[in-house]
Amino acid sequence: MENKAVEVRDLAKSFHGFWAVKGISFSVHRGEIFGFLGPNGAGKTTTLRIITGLSRATRGEAYVFGHSVRKEEIWVKEHIGVVPEISNLYPELSVFDNLIFIGQLYGLPKKERSERAHQLLKDFDLEQKRNVLFAKLSKGMKRRLTIAAALIHKPAIIFLDEPTTGLDVASSRHLRLLIKKLHQSGVTIFLTTHNIAEAEQLCQRIAIIVKGKIVALNTTQALKQKLPSDNLLIIKIDRTDKSLRQKLSKLSGVKTVIFENSLIRIQSDDLNSVLITIPNLLQQERVKILSVNTSSPSLEDAFVHLTGLDLELMKIDKEMKS
Ligand SMILES: Nc1ncnc2c1ncn2[C@@H]1O[C@H](COP(=O)(O)OP(=O)(O)OP(=O)(O)O)[C@@H](O)[C@H]1O
Ligand SMILES: [Mg+2]
Repeated sequence: MENKAVEVRDLAKSFHGFWAVKGISFSVHRGEIFGFLGPNGAGKTTTLRIITGLSRATRGEAYVFGHSVRKEEIWVKEHIGVVPEISNLYPELSVFDNLIFIGQLYGLPKKERSERAHQLLKDFDLEQKRNVLFAKLSKGMKRRLTIAAALIHKPAIIFLDEPTTGLDVASSRHLRLLIKKLHQSGVTIFLTTHNIAEAEQLCQRIAIIVKGKIVALNTTQALKQKLPSDNLLIIKIDRTDKSLRQKLSKLSGVKTVIFENSLIRIQSDDLNSVLITIPNLLQQERVKILSVNTSSPSLEDAFVHLTGLDLELMKIDKEMKS
């Protein structure tokens, strides 16, 4: 049995001379949750669209379970589930009828599609909404139904493009739980996200994509372990100001500085010296230290370390468009 659910070789895409994806290679193992993590405009959706046969690569190849997307597009489309950022369901059809309609498109026999639709409504907590029009659902419910519809033909892999973007905290959590359950039932999951915490919670392996290039690819654990674990300093202070970050970054021994409200997370390769210089600097700046802790690095720390990107870039959330 083909062990790679997805294989991508030197994939590139140019839009009128602008290279959105610049020759990337990676594979997704059967049975894993694979995260494609990157800031807005990194090339996540473009890559996903090529692998799922919705767009053509300018260069390179993509395979799904060993089948070439270019040469065997129909086979690939029949064996995958795709959940785009903007729902492809019909606003004027009910929840149940949407599932039946999509089942018809996949050629499922009448009895099977009805059974499958009922099961999916159960699995995705939508039974009570079966007769409600898609247009009248909440954002979270729309997203759940769109995922359910993508599973109607029991694909072995599902592609999710930013599944929780635009949802509130509770709906996002609910959806993440459903994604985990789906994974436990044996479905391989390819998910794009710009949410680092989400990638950390859900994914076994993560590729970090920035400006069309993969800058890191490893298990979530290994990405975090790229940072020595004893070198993270967390200081709570009573106020922040813009110049403080710059001054802290310039101190010898300081590698990265991340501000999170009144918390400063500092990565250092010389903890002994910064434990003296940082409090001195804060005192000079008349900033009061409320607490000091050391901690293991999070994926956020690894991300900043690996990409050099500002975390604020990643926190920009987009409105859900459906
Ligand atoms: N059809 C297109 N025509 C021209 N440029 C495009 C097209 N689709 C995408 N791009 C450009 O390619 C780059 C990558 O876009 P893509 O949608 O793949 O990014 P993304 O990582 O999915 O970002 P986001 O987090 O905002 O969804 C962007 O600069 C985008 O403007
Ligand atoms: Mg996108």
